[in-house]
Parts: sequence; structure tokens; C-alpha cells
Amino acid sequence: MSAAMNSDAEKPVRKVVITVAGLGTRFLPATKATPKEMLPVVDKPAIQYVVEEAVSAGLEDVLFVTGRNKQSLENHFDRAWELEAALEQKGDQQRLDRVRQSQVLGDIHYVRQGDPRGLGHAVLCGARHVGDEPFAVMLGDDLIDPRDALLAPMLEVQQRYGGSVVALIEVDPSQVSLYGCAAVRPGDTDDVVEVTDLVEKPDPADAPSNLAIIGRYVLHPAVFDVLRETPPGRGGEIQITDALKTLAGMPAEAGGGVRAIVFRGRRYDTGDRQDYLRTTVQLACERSDLGPDFRAWLREFVAALPPEDTR
Ligand code: UTP
Repeated sequence: MSAAMNSDAEKPVRKVVITVAGLGTRFLPATKATPKEMLPVVDKPAIQYVVEEAVSAGLEDVLFVTGRNKQSLENHFDRAWELEAALEQKGDQQRLDRVRQSQVLGDIHYVRQGDPRGLGHAVLCGARHVGDEPFAVMLGDDLIDPRDALLAPMLEVQQRYGGSVVALIEVDPSQVSLYGCAAVRPGDTDDVVEVTDLVEKPDPADAPSNLAIIGRYVLHPAVFDVLRETPPGRGGEIQITDALKTLAGMPAEAGGGVRAIVFRGRRYDTGDRQDYLRTTVQLACERSDLGPDFRAWLREFVAALPPEDTR
């Protein structure tokens, strides 16, 4: 890779901003009074998987950017005295441990977004808490399988080169219009590339590649000043993709430069109904406690399905 090594090497990444303030319109009416990040994936809300991923990558300072329905999320990461007392009285240690799991995860903070003016605006809401150090951003409905490391290698890339780091997946060219899309040039290794341009939800004909941005970022704090100057873009929202495009064109001394890891592991987009259903079935099948019975039922269920054209 051509760029100089990181001048911010003395500043490790300690904080993560997790955005959960979107309206979740694809999941209405389930998300009318509940954030989509609180929808269960098997028996844990999606957001708990995300916080567990952050903590296992060493990021224990968690800032949630929340919206109007934040209460259930706050309660989930807080103590539940009545529930704990009832389980203690019953001597149900296993369930008690499960209830307590989410309470001991990290050091959790909250900030309200107010108007959901886009992901870029949500990230900007974290500026005061983050201060002048590189930080991670995770989207609360985007799950990465814990067997496939992504955040930890992204942190390593940021610490090595400075600037900002995004995660890309290869998608079918017809799907690029659902994502932010990156133009890249080769980097040091096959899986770390340099980002030269970014476009939010391009028409497939105009897309610079089939590399799509997913919900993990490690950002230089220069992004905050860039976001303050970023006008609303696609959909009238302040887009993080537009700010990253600006950062990609800025010199390294000013906090510019964007690299990407091309992720080839398992990812689950729980904000999309089809993907949510697949994720639930897949993860349930893989569970050692629920899996055997569930797989047996699923086999029978699939075998009994009528052929598609007769339904
Ligand atoms: P999405 O693009 O999935 O939008 O947001 P959404 O509003 O949450 O959901 P749909 O498309 O209406 O179903 C991606 C991420 O950005 C957050 C969301 O919570 C999610 O983590 N977000 C989005 C905010 O925090 N604030 C916003 O203004 C927009």
C-alpha cells in the first residue's frame, strides 16, 4: 500500500457508536413501537449480537444513537430486578444467567438523534462523546457471524494506516442499488484495498463496482467536520457514504484516506424481512440446544411443502 503509516498510532480505538435510530419502515408494523434492533433472532435481540461483537473486539465503551423508541433497548441493557428476583426464587440459574448476560456487556451510553436525518447525521450525534480519537461505527441491524472476524481486522488496518476503514462485500451487480458502492484499487493484500470513490445506492449501470458497504466502519475523527459540511444526499438524508467519499479525497495528514476490508464471511441483514427469516432459521438450526429438534421439524416441513407452482 502506498500511503504512509499511521500518524495517530498513539490513539487506540476504544469507543463504538451503534446506530439504532432509524425508522425501520421495512419491518412495519413490528417496528411501530419497538426498534427493529430489538427484534429477536432466535432468543436474543439482534442488538445484543452486535454489542457482543463489539466487546469481543475489545470495544467496551458503547454509545447508542437512539430514536423515539429507545426504552425497550435501554431496559434490555439494564438490570431487571423483578425478573431476577422471580428467577432467583425459583432457583432457575440458567435463565438468570441469560437475563444477566446483556447487563454486563460494556459501558453503555445513550444519545438521542431527534430527527432521523440519516446515518451520517446519526454518527454526528456521537461527536461529543467520541472526541478526537478514531472510533468504530456499527449498524444495529447488521450481524456478523462471530466465527468470521471482521471488526478486529478492521481495527488493525486503522491502527496500521490511520484514516478510515470500511467493510465491503461482493454483491450481485443487480443488488448494488441497495447499498453504498465503492470504487477501489489494490492494496497490500487481496482483502485490504484502497477506496477511491463511493456512491450511495447507484443505479446498476452507473455503479463503479459490485463492492457494497456493510454496517461496520472504523472512522478517523476528521469525519465529524466533514459530516457537518455534508449536505443531505440521496433520499434527503445526510449520508455517511458521502462523507467517506470526501475523506477518500483528503490527504492523510488531515485524517483522509479510506481503506476497505473485503469481507467473505457470513453476514445477516436483520433489517430486511427475507434475510431476517433466513437468519433466524439458520442460527436456530446451528444451535446445540434447539438445533436437533428444530432441524428434524424443518426437514419434515420442507418435505411436505407443495411444489411452488401449485400453491
Ligand atoms: P436503514 O437504512 O436500514 O434505515 O438504516 P432504517 O430507517 O433503520 O430502516 P428502513 O429502511 O426504514 O426499514 C441503517 C442504520 O442506520 C440507522 C438505523 O437504525 C440502522 O442502524 N439510522 C438510519 C439512524 O440511526 N438514523 C437515521 O436517521 C437513519
